[in-house]
Formats: sequence, C-alpha cells, structure tokens
Amino acid sequence: MDIIKSIQQRKSCRTFTSESLKPSDRKKLEEYINSNKTGIKNEVIDFTLVEKKETDKPMKLTYGLIKGNKTYILGKTASTASARVNYGYLLEKIVLKATDLKLASCWIGMFDKEYFNDIQIENEQIIPGILTVGYSTGKKSTIESLARKAVKADKRKPWDQLFFNYETNAILESEIIKPYIESLEMTRLAPSSGNTQPWRIFYESAANEFHFFKKITNQNYESKGMHDIDMGIAMCHFELVSDKNDLKGNWIKNDASSIKSINDLQYINTWKCL
Ligand SMILES: Cc1cc2nc3c(=O)[nH]c(=O)nc-3n(C[C@H](O)[C@H](O)[C@H](O)COP(=O)(O)O)c2cc1C
Repeated sequence: MDIIKSIQQRKSCRTFTSESLKPSDRKKLEEYINSNKTGIKNEVIDFTLVEKKETDKPMKLTYGLIKGNKTYILGKTASTASARVNYGYLLEKIVLKATDLKLASCWIGMFDKEYFNDIQIENEQIIPGILTVGYSTGKKSTIESLARKAVKADKRKPWDQLFFNYETNAILESEIIKPYIESLEMTRLAPSSGNTQPWRIFYESAANEFHFFKKITNQNYESKGMHDIDMGIAMCHFELVSDKNDLKGNWIKNDASSIKSINDLQYINTWKCL
C-alpha cells in the first residue's frame, strides 16, 4: 500500500452507490481485517464486516446525511479510554487499506446501537464507532456539503498549533526532527470526530520520544469517547508513515509521574524512537 497516497486521498464519503462490495474487494478487505487484530500493547480486537440488505431499515442516525451505504466494519472492546485509543488505531489501518483498494469510507461515532443487534456483545463491552465502506457516487448531497462546511472538513490546524518542543513548550522546529516531518505532516491530515483534531504532540529530544497528548476540544465528543478514538487514529498515521520511512520505534506508556503536566492536556502515549 502507498500509505502517503492513501492518507492524502482519503476523504469521508457520505453518498454511496447502493452496490454491495465486489467479491474481489470484499476478499482483499476481509483478508486485511483478519491480519490486523493486534494493536497497541498487543491488545486484540476482532473486526467484522457486516452487509445490510436492501430490505433492512436504514440506520436512524444516517437518515439523510449518509446515503446508499450498506456495508459496515465494526468491532467490540472494553469501555475504557485505552481500549478506544486502540480501536481507533486498528480501525484507521482498515480505513487506509480500504482507500488503497479505491473504496470510499466514513467513520461514524454516533450511531444507532440497536442496528447491530445481531452482533453478540458481552457484558461491559461496547462498539466505540463504526465504519461505512463502499463505492462513492462521486457526488455530494446538499446536506453532506453543508455538514462538511460546518466542521471545515477540508481544513486542518497548522503545524504550530499541534507540534511542540517538550523541553520548552515552544513550537517544534522542524530542523530538530527532520526525518519525522512526513510522519507529523501525515498525522496532521488524519480524520477526527467533527474534525476536532485533539492531538498535540511534544518531542523530547533528550529521550528521543514523541509524547502524544489529548486536548479536549469538544466536551460532547469527549463524553462519548470520540477523542480517544481520534488519538488512536493519529497514532496509526504516525506509525505507518514512520515505518514507511524506515524510522523504527514503538509505543510505550510512560509513568504519569514522569511526564510533566502541560496546561489542559492529557497524556496518552509515547512513540519511542529506536
Ligand atoms: C471517530 C470519528 C467519528 C466520526 N463520526 C462521524 C459521524 O457520526 N457522522 C459523520 O457524518 N461523520 C463522522 N466522522 C467524520 C468526520 O466528520 C471527518 O473525518 C472530519 O470532518 C474530517 O473530514 P474528512 O474525513 O473528509 O477529512 C467521524 C470521524 C471520526 C474520526
């Protein structure tokens, strides 16, 4: 997969043709899904591809906004912040694979839980979010165009609002982390709930580590666990692009006591460069 191309080309699609996935696309996607179960700290999530029939009622929350879709990818996890981060991390890998297969997709965080009643959910487990996949009609409905405008979906925060020097809290100078410019730039382009982009990344040169922090930018999304999924999505982009550039590293969680507190930010995870 050309990861840079997938990241740059991916856009949320809300107007799908009502076709089922072609058997060859479905096979490739399912093969990828089955090979992509192990996330951060070896936590495993099984994702399932569900195809609803023409005769099934449409999902309540997609009335109007998302049209024509009938294929969904979803999994279940514990209802904890770290499980949601892992969910975002793994499901975004599937998003990028789908994009590579020329499939359109959209993350959906707020959906009708009863719609997937046939999926067995054990006690205390949740479906943190779902993905619709399919073929784009190539056109946007008026309501979709308005929704994109409302969240400025085509825009992203500039570098100086997202990436910082851990030692000084100043804007991160790209000179210091030259090999990682592309990793950060591709993280900047990641999708997030309501395009809220809650990730703030601090580079600590002494330890050669990138610390990922969450800024609660929308209380409603935060209360529904969406910002944690967003953090996992950012981590996915950072890792895949670093890996493509042969920059080795792994995810660690530093002791909260060893991480300095930074204003209103919450520490999530650290990429340790090797
Ligand atoms: C965790 C998550 C949840 C989302 N939930 C919804 C949703 O419920 N409905 C929707 O129309 N779009 C949803 N989106 C899509 C975002 O609005 C979209 O990614 C963002 O506006 C950026 O636009 P882009 O994906 O086209 O780059 C969600 C995205 C993420 C990452």
